[in-house]
Amino acid sequence: MTAVKEIRAIGVHDYDNWLEPKEFTYEPQEMRPEEVEIKVEACGICGSDIHAANGDWGRHFSPLAVGHEIVGVVTAAGKDSRHKVGDRVGVGAQCDSCHTCTRCKNEHQNACRRMVGTYQGVYPSGKVTQGGYASHVRVNSEFAFKIPDNLSSVDVAPLLCGGITAFRPMMTAGVTKGTKVGINGIGGIGHMAILFAKALGAEVTAISRNDKKKELAIQLGADHYIATDEKDFSKKHEDSIDLLINTGSSFSEGNVSEVLNLLTAFGKMTFITAPPIDEKLSLIPFQMLQNNISVGGSCIGSPKDIEYMLEVASKNNIKPMIETIDINEPNVKTAWERMVKGDVRFRFVLTGYDKYFK
Ligand SMILES: NC(=O)c1ccc[n+]([C@@H]2O[C@H](COP(=O)([O-])OP(=O)(O)OC[C@H]3O[C@@H](n4cnc5c(N)ncnc54)[C@H](OP(=O)(O)O)[C@@H]3O)[C@@H](O)[C@H]2O)c1
Ligand SMILES: [Zn+2]
Ligand SMILES: [Zn+2]
Repeated sequence: MTAVKEIRAIGVHDYDNWLEPKEFTYEPQEMRPEEVEIKVEACGICGSDIHAANGDWGRHFSPLAVGHEIVGVVTAAGKDSRHKVGDRVGVGAQCDSCHTCTRCKNEHQNACRRMVGTYQGVYPSGKVTQGGYASHVRVNSEFAFKIPDNLSSVDVAPLLCGGITAFRPMMTAGVTKGTKVGINGIGGIGHMAILFAKALGAEVTAISRNDKKKELAIQLGADHYIATDEKDFSKKHEDSIDLLINTGSSFSEGNVSEVLNLLTAFGKMTFITAPPIDEKLSLIPFQMLQNNISVGGSCIGSPKDIEYMLEVASKNNIKPMIETIDINEPNVKTAWERMVKGDVRFRFVLTGYDKYFK
């Protein structure tokens, strides 16, 4: 099959009216030898889609189609591609990197300073990237991953960004049986973090701004639950967590000192939160040194990490809790509005691509 000349997509045209997504077409960058073109079958709606679409991270260009939890079938493959036509593959938040820097050479492509995001990214050619709310995506095949047969496209889609983002801090910290893992923010990524932490044998505490998600968090496998609107939660649960992963879409309502107080000595707090660009954190050095704790960040995962995460998901039959919704303009609007209200348990996945992009 030959590559398509034009890709149809649904996205933001005007950031002031971002909740009015509309269809547009774009011409992808020329197909390179290492690339694959993928006909999209399913795409999760990540919290990052909302930040990018509403301008939280800046108004880089429009129209902008978001979506980076993509699963589909390869419909065209360059001569050096590692996948062939007909393969079912997934793509996460990154579609290329520079391949020449130390980070890339050390297989930390996800930290490459010249990484190209699957959407809102810019190739060295100046061509911008568009995401998976579209008929097709075209990416470097190094960033497309074969999907294990036992995982359905709708179930696996959220793992391509959300799953790896939740899992990578646990890899870094060496989470194993009995590690006390706290997940702060029980949304799309937070709920996947509970599933992965349990698969690794951790003792899991779900932490949320109130007690509304308690029942579901326990159902997902959490052993404990902390509501941060509870008076004295910080004192009451001190020394209860070795690794605390902050997955909230913002930390504006959080008190970092109170949350850090939950850590055991030598514990670690990792932010995966990617808040509006002007949001800042205020840390108290004495709290960190006296408790020998550290605060860090984590960004998606490298291709190798993503492949390992998919293997763990396949072996443990990890399935996120999803709500599917057919792709079209009004449904994208509805899904985004409900995401903003926190009205989804826990991840939307866009489906019905064949119906819309026929
Ligand atoms: N580092 C990375 O590589 C990476 C990759 C993907 C996404 N992200 C970022 O990760 C964050 C979460 O993504 P997601 O897909 O899980 O989003 P999501 O499904 O919308 O969930 C976000 C959760 O954050 C909490 N929250 C919402 N508003 C908040 C506020 N004002 N203050 C504190 N907490 C708030 C809520 O949890 P509770 O109701 O339980 O408190 C909510 O369920 C986003 O910022 C996203 O951009 C980072
Ligand atoms: Zn690089
Ligand atoms: Zn994402």
